[in-house]
Amino acid sequence: SKDGFEHYMLKEIYEQPKVVKNILENREEIYNSNFSKEELEQIDKIYIVACGTALHAGQNGKFALEMLTGIPVITDIASEFRYNDVFIDEKTLLIVISQSGETADTIGALEKGIRYKAKTLSITNVMDSTIANMTEKSMFCNAGPEISIASTKAYMAQLTVLFLLSLDIALKLKAIDTQTFDKVLASLKEIPEKINIVLKDLTAYKEIAKELKEVNSMFYIGRGSDFITAKEGSLKLKETSYIHSEPFPAGELKHGTMAIIDETSKIIAVAAQSGLDAKTTVNVSELKDKGAKVFSIGTEENEVLKNNSDITILIPKTIDLLVPMLAVVPEQLIAYYTALAKGNDVDHPRNLTKSVISE
Ligand code: M6R
Repeated sequence: SKDGFEHYMLKEIYEQPKVVKNILENREEIYNSNFSKEELEQIDKIYIVACGTALHAGQNGKFALEMLTGIPVITDIASEFRYNDVFIDEKTLLIVISQSGETADTIGALEKGIRYKAKTLSITNVMDSTIANMTEKSMFCNAGPEISIASTKAYMAQLTVLFLLSLDIALKLKAIDTQTFDKVLASLKEIPEKINIVLKDLTAYKEIAKELKEVNSMFYIGRGSDFITAKEGSLKLKETSYIHSEPFPAGELKHGTMAIIDETSKIIAVAAQSGLDAKTTVNVSELKDKGAKVFSIGTEENEVLKNNSDITILIPKTIDLLVPMLAVVPEQLIAYYTALAKGNDVDHPRNLTKSVISE
């Protein structure tokens, strides 16, 4: 049931604090589903392969895995990976991520990984799914059934599992000490309450939705994991509101796209990571100079961003690694309210299915 919410999408957005909390409380299950220290010591590279939103979770996972474990990570789109030349052998860990556990391309990618003798690990939201049953190790998101075609809480669950997995691998390989482990875990435990803060006041999201509902095309920008968040926001908006949007790294603006920008342009800028937000803020002021409308997602500390944006959504501070868990929530709500403002069938966007079982 929708628990009093108008749509499953909104209900599932609001379930996110609980989803994170559940996984954290049962985190031993994640650690126990991981490879052993001895097995992990044989790995020299990690591939993360998935489709759509699950791939975006994986792209954030790459930042965490590389930073905490020092092992190089390659991410790939399942439908590309399965037909491209890839560099996998028995020293490769192949991580596949899939909410449904039934996505045809992800299964195809996994079959290829198995053929090349990679170690395989899956992160799914359906325990007895094809993908979960095919991999040596399977981690369960436990987010509850996700009904809305636009994925929200499953993404949040995938991020949580990926961060715990990264911590566990890093500790087993002694790439981090227990203090670092505890510090990241403590920050993770604060995330549910911080998501609740983002969910409290909906005014800004509705205001932005009002501005977006009339546009045919728009942009999302960001750097580092803020760019991944921009990609996820863009996909969510396309899916639910049918507005064309293009996400790209903020630094790429000057290499072509800036030529499009004029007074009619609308941009969502994600500038939430402390290391990179100042750089993206410079791009925001350049966009303002060209007359564009900019809606930004940032933190309290960035006054310049606020001064240069038409509307700024402030998210609570956390460590940079975990910023994607907070920065995505405003985007989900913007997509939801824009779709609603357009009168679209939010939970069942046209031309899409929940589980893509043919390639
Ligand atoms: O079930 P999966 O996670 O394998 O599905 C992958 C994509 O089809 C899915 O994430 C899709 O992009 C969502 N509808 C996005 O909201």
